[in-house]
Amino acid sequence: MEQSTPRTMAPARSWLLLLCLAAAATAGALQARAQPDSIGFISIDCGLPGTASYVDDTTKLSYAPDAAFIDAGSNHNISAEYITPLLSKRYHNVRSFPDGARNCYTLRSLVAGLKYLLRATFKYGNYDGLRRPPIFDLYVGVNYWTVANITDADTSMILESIVVVPDDFVQVCLVNTGAGTPFISGLDLRPLKSSLYPQVNATQGLVLLGRINFGPTDITLVRYPDDPHDRVWIPWVDTASWNSLSTTLRVQNIDNDLFEAPSKVMQTAITPRNASKNIEFFWDSEPQPKDPTPGYIGIMHFSELQLLPGNAVRQFYINLNGEPWYPKAFTPGYLSTDATYNSNPYRGISRYNISINATANSTLPPIINAVEVFSVISTTNVATYSLDVSAITAIKAKYLVQKNWMGDPCVPKTLAWDGLTCSYAISNPPRITSVNLSFSGLNGDISSSFANLKAVHYVDLSHNNLTGSIPDSLSQLSSLTVLDLTGNQLNGSIPSGLLKRTQDGSLSLRYGNNPNLCTNGNSCQTTKRKSKLGIYIAVPVVLVVVIASVVVLLCCFLRRQKRGPTNNAVKPQNETPTSHVPTGDAYAQSSLQLENRRFTYKELEMITNNFQRVLGRGGFGLVYDGFLEDGTQVAVKLRSETSNQGVKEFLAEAQILTRIHHKNLVPMIGYCKDGEYMALVYEYMSEGTLQEHIAGNGRNGGFLSWRQRLRIALESAQGLEYLHKGCNPPLIHRDVKATNILLNAKLEAKIADFGLTKAINRDNSTQVYTNSLVGTIGYVDPEYHATMQPTIKSDVYSFGVVLLELVTGRPAILHDPEPTSIIQWVRQRLARGNIEGVVDPRMRGDHDVNGVWKAADIALKCTAQASAQRPTMTDVVAQLQECLELEEAGAGGADVNGSFYTGSSSDPYSGYNGYAADGQSTDVSQSSTTFEIEQNFGRTPTMPTGPAAR
Ligand SMILES: *[C@@H]1O[C@H](CO)[C@@H](O)[C@H](O)[C@H]1NC(C)=O
Ligand SMILES: *[C@@H]1O[C@H](CO)[C@@H](O)[C@H](O)[C@H]1NC(C)=O
Ligand SMILES: *[C@@H]1O[C@H](CO)[C@@H](O)[C@H](O)[C@H]1NC(C)=O
Ligand SMILES: *[C@@H]1O[C@H](CO)[C@@H](O)[C@H](O)[C@H]1NC(C)=O
Ligand SMILES: *[C@@H]1O[C@H](CO)[C@@H](O)[C@H](O)[C@H]1NC(C)=O
Repeated sequence: MEQSTPRTMAPARSWLLLLCLAAAATAGALQARAQPDSIGFISIDCGLPGTASYVDDTTKLSYAPDAAFIDAGSNHNISAEYITPLLSKRYHNVRSFPDGARNCYTLRSLVAGLKYLLRATFKYGNYDGLRRPPIFDLYVGVNYWTVANITDADTSMILESIVVVPDDFVQVCLVNTGAGTPFISGLDLRPLKSSLYPQVNATQGLVLLGRINFGPTDITLVRYPDDPHDRVWIPWVDTASWNSLSTTLRVQNIDNDLFEAPSKVMQTAITPRNASKNIEFFWDSEPQPKDPTPGYIGIMHFSELQLLPGNAVRQFYINLNGEPWYPKAFTPGYLSTDATYNSNPYRGISRYNISINATANSTLPPIINAVEVFSVISTTNVATYSLDVSAITAIKAKYLVQKNWMGDPCVPKTLAWDGLTCSYAISNPPRITSVNLSFSGLNGDISSSFANLKAVHYVDLSHNNLTGSIPDSLSQLSSLTVLDLTGNQLNGSIPSGLLKRTQDGSLSLRYGNNPNLCTNGNSCQTTKRKSKLGIYIAVPVVLVVVIASVVVLLCCFLRRQKRGPTNNAVKPQNETPTSHVPTGDAYAQSSLQLENRRFTYKELEMITNNFQRVLGRGGFGLVYDGFLEDGTQVAVKLRSETSNQGVKEFLAEAQILTRIHHKNLVPMIGYCKDGEYMALVYEYMSEGTLQEHIAGNGRNGGFLSWRQRLRIALESAQGLEYLHKGCNPPLIHRDVKATNILLNAKLEAKIADFGLTKAINRDNSTQVYTNSLVGTIGYVDPEYHATMQPTIKSDVYSFGVVLLELVTGRPAILHDPEPTSIIQWVRQRLARGNIEGVVDPRMRGDHDVNGVWKAADIALKCTAQASAQRPTMTDVVAQLQECLELEEAGAGGADVNGSFYTGSSSDPYSGYNGYAADGQSTDVSQSSTTFEIEQNFGRTPTMPTGPAAR
């Protein structure tokens, strides 16, 4: 613990003078403004109707109505019985917030990084006639401030905090905690010099417990202008115990004063009535729901008010609970401010007894002029990346989005904005990664602010009334993988930048049902005209855009047209609608990457040097090594000509791979359908399958590091997400496993083998599924197994198994010694809190245990029994992204102090317990003999707690 008195000297006077001069100038300005007045004050009378400000009688400050600071809530007058002649006008009305969990005032035009005093005032006054004073939480920005516990109708409550404001605005939020409707009477903001209240910094704020002015001659509050910082000093007079001292002479602030107690307050003081006694007072710890042992800061202000004769001495000790608070005997300076304070908060004491005792040498009793007591709050929560906030705020304003769009978009997670997904990394502010504003009644053009959401992966603006053209600036969003504009009134053509992104496979653009959109360089097709063509039969239509006579594939095509065409597709000239495999003619001779080449069998012989080197064995034949004319290495999957099996799979894969492209799906270069011969030609994936790497048989030996594993997991997840989300209708891979994830020379993961991939027909709920269960033992979704109906969640399940393989370095089915599913194996160990026991020892500790824990948690959620409880691949991608950011934050594997995992949309502990409960209640017994290994699922042990952070 450290105590000190301010000592150093510096000029602070001119600033004060400026404040006073400026104050005089503000009196006439009576328009409501959502920004500070000329002395930097913001003074709001919450619930005041109209737009006119008024001047407060005592402070002469101009109070503005609150409409410019908030767009929610409603105005109410307090009940007349609580209005007394002296009650400040501010308390006559309130704004209350019956709707929404969080409602925030936004105070703008601040200086980022400066200290501000924020003061919220409340008087319930039975404004709602319910006679039920509420309890709710207050947040300053994204940090918890305090609980507003309104205990009765009559008390005027003042809650104050001093914080560093990290941005050029601050929000004060009222959060409904289920104990009544939040309301507020007034809100003030006052700037403070950075040198004031040194206990306040970027990570710690102060919350006022009490600010006492001892011994005043009248009982009015001291505020502005007597205190230029407009702190509220509460008078404390107790003539029975204490004598008052006072002076009319000005008490000067010492230069570089850390607290600048105002002269008006310092001009009065108390001494004990009985000169031999001490001055004693105390405060009690007030445990908060969110901070059971708050830390306290005390600041005691002293000034000698009597000009003492030469032989007189006033000297005293200051004790806290019998121990010295300040180590030396203290003598206040004559008519100058002095203070003692602690820098590090006291904690864990229930009552803080302060005693001020004269020393033996003292001829005069002790004295004190004022005291302030604060509790400390942590302000370490970081708001969403500010450019994301300004972009989404502009979007909210443009479209007048209602929802729960209040406060910070991502923080705290429990109050994040509906329709947004955010990523949370430890070292960086949260980012907005997806925006879903479908069916939100948006009008007008597409806001250019979308292009400022630089971390966004997924933007869904489908089914609104958006008009105008599509801004090309969206193509600059390098992370954007899905842009859904379906079902709007957009016009113009697809901008070239976006087209380019769709061509290189980095973006899936959906724009069906925009009747006025030109999707062809020359003409605008219209829905009407296409309807007249009467394409009512089930025909796969390829989403293709023709530009300058080059046919370019966009994304997924497997849209079936049942009730008339709804998409904007233009078919390539030569495609036969009924053909499952494109003839290839439409794609020939094009230099674009997307076009697939058609090979003859002869060419394949040349490419593979007569099928000399076998790379592996696929479902319907062997895979050969080959080289194109230009030297590009390729893999050629040749269907065995004797086998009838695999034709369907071959066709399915060819059909899909000619039409979908994504950086995490294995790229097909071409195909061959030459008489009996069928082959697919892929880009060569030099690092082979993920399975080989997990087993430690990677091409250059060695084992994958944790970071490599995470990246592979993320990329594979992105590939699957694309199938599920980027394709319309969604595709189910149905055979996700470590051998179907291929790695290129850069160890980038690509999903392969689409032979079993199926499209889900969303329009037709009566779709009949085949009776054959497909997939690979150890990876098959038990629900699919039971229902025979694969869903996208079946892929999620299989992916969870792959993720467990990455974490553990073990195969999907272990021999332990009995065949055991890896899922069960991991669950059993985690149940005993043995996280290190599941981690692949070959990573040699180059991992952060919390990151691994989180990944394991994701995997276990993916492999939940009930598909409804599994996350979507979009969730998985976001979570893995967090893991990777976490890993990269703790760069080099160095375990940075305090870098343990805390943040995600799900608390890993609660998530795990929820999972365990799930495993317990669903006792699935499966009958099929083919998949008997899966039967182990019913015996999931309960998870008492998760492992502790290292
Ligand atoms: C509040 O009281 C004022 C008069 O003091 C009156 O003009 C106003 O209409 C009242 N507002 C409401 C919402 O009752
Ligand atoms: C609110 O105040 C009352 C009375 O002081 C107290 O009993 C109660 O525990 C407080 N509630 C909270 C949530 O602080
Ligand atoms: C504070 O003082 C009171 C008497 O004034 C005493 O009863 C109490 O024990 C003291 N508390 C501590 C923590 O010293
Ligand atoms: C009290 O006075 C004596 C004699 O003048 C001096 O030695 C001693 O240091 C003084 N004590 C304090 C606490 O100032
Ligand atoms: C987007 O929002 C719509 C409507 O609220 C909802 O139906 C849809 O499932 C959401 N999409 C995603 C990916 O969450």
